[in-house]
Amino acid sequence: MWGKNEVTARLQIEWPIIQAGMAGGSTTPELVAAVSQAGGLGTLGAAYMSPDQMCAAIREIRQRTDKPFAVNLFVPEAFDANFFVSASVAAVLNEVRQELGIPADPPMTKIVESFAAQMEVVLEERVPVFSFTFGLLEQSWMAELKERGIVVIGTATTVREAQAQEESGVDMVTAQGSEAGGHRGAFLQDAPSNLIGTMALVPQVADAVSIPVIAAGGIMDGRGIAAAFALGAQAAQLGTAFLPCVESGAHPLHKQAVREASDETAVITRAFSGKAARGVENRFMNLLAPYEQELPPYPILNALTRDIRAAAAKQQRSEYLSMWAGQAASLGRETTAEELLQQLVQETEQVCRRLL
Ligand SMILES: Cc1cc2nc3c(=O)[nH]c(=O)nc-3n(C[C@H](O)[C@H](O)[C@H](O)COP(=O)(O)O)c2cc1C
Repeated sequence: MWGKNEVTARLQIEWPIIQAGMAGGSTTPELVAAVSQAGGLGTLGAAYMSPDQMCAAIREIRQRTDKPFAVNLFVPEAFDANFFVSASVAAVLNEVRQELGIPADPPMTKIVESFAAQMEVVLEERVPVFSFTFGLLEQSWMAELKERGIVVIGTATTVREAQAQEESGVDMVTAQGSEAGGHRGAFLQDAPSNLIGTMALVPQVADAVSIPVIAAGGIMDGRGIAAAFALGAQAAQLGTAFLPCVESGAHPLHKQAVREASDETAVITRAFSGKAARGVENRFMNLLAPYEQELPPYPILNALTRDIRAAAAKQQRSEYLSMWAGQAASLGRETTAEELLQQLVQETEQVCRRLL
């Protein structure tokens, strides 16, 4: 049930454990390379990176390890750059800016990185594995990836989404339960209507598709990994568990928040980006909560809050930082990625032995 399977064979990894791509700086080349070097699959969360930054990071990963790794991107969504921002939302954002001592109503420069330019890097660098979230991949990109032998992994939060991913030609699908930290990968239904937990989602997806299923959401230790396998997954993807690692680039306040988390800490909000995401509850989320219905959609709000998040990071103000984390964050441990991976493998084996 655990160990070598279709996923490890296809990804050419020793253990079916994947470190999730986490956009925003947590997944440093050091972290990605350390996970891969230790026999798992490290993933570079590259969604917010420019093509040049991606190239540099990919090259650094390759200098550090010759093992396979993944690059993760956000599938683009249509958006209206002139979206009207309500006076009440603009007022809250400016109130926060004033508190941080940064200019009100800054001009919105780049809303998102060019997905096409990012994909060119993925293709040119022939990264071993490409994973994505927020939708389906256009067939032209799928064909280019396949032509280069790149393994493709899509994200689903419902059975219907998993089936759509399979039909579109992905090699594997990540079933992201509602416990998961970070953005919801939902694309066929608006959250929160599809908040299906990992325990319910994974077996239903495993029954509905014939490609391998990777379980994600709330998995922090060997108990969670063994459970994911019992539910029909062939690999486990962990995000929050890797945030406190020595090699992680998460902001020290983000690491501290994960360290101090309880089961009730991480809530779902649209306040930072316009898209539902799970993170440690803070003042910024609460300030915008009354205006939930008026919040601009992703990626507009994400671009609008960029200056606030950057200033908050510099000024050590955790109340205005987006600190994504899953519902099991309190099970996190501060150690090296190699040590964490070894512990996860040992624990999973112990649990499996105990259950047999
Ligand atoms: C800080 C953070 C950032 C994330 N960023 C991404 C991302 O860029 N792309 C992606 O596909 N998933 C992202 N996720 C979601 C993970 O892929 C995964 O679904 C999630 O971490 C699993 O739940 P867990 O955090 O409880 O392990 C992120 C998660 C976290 C915690």
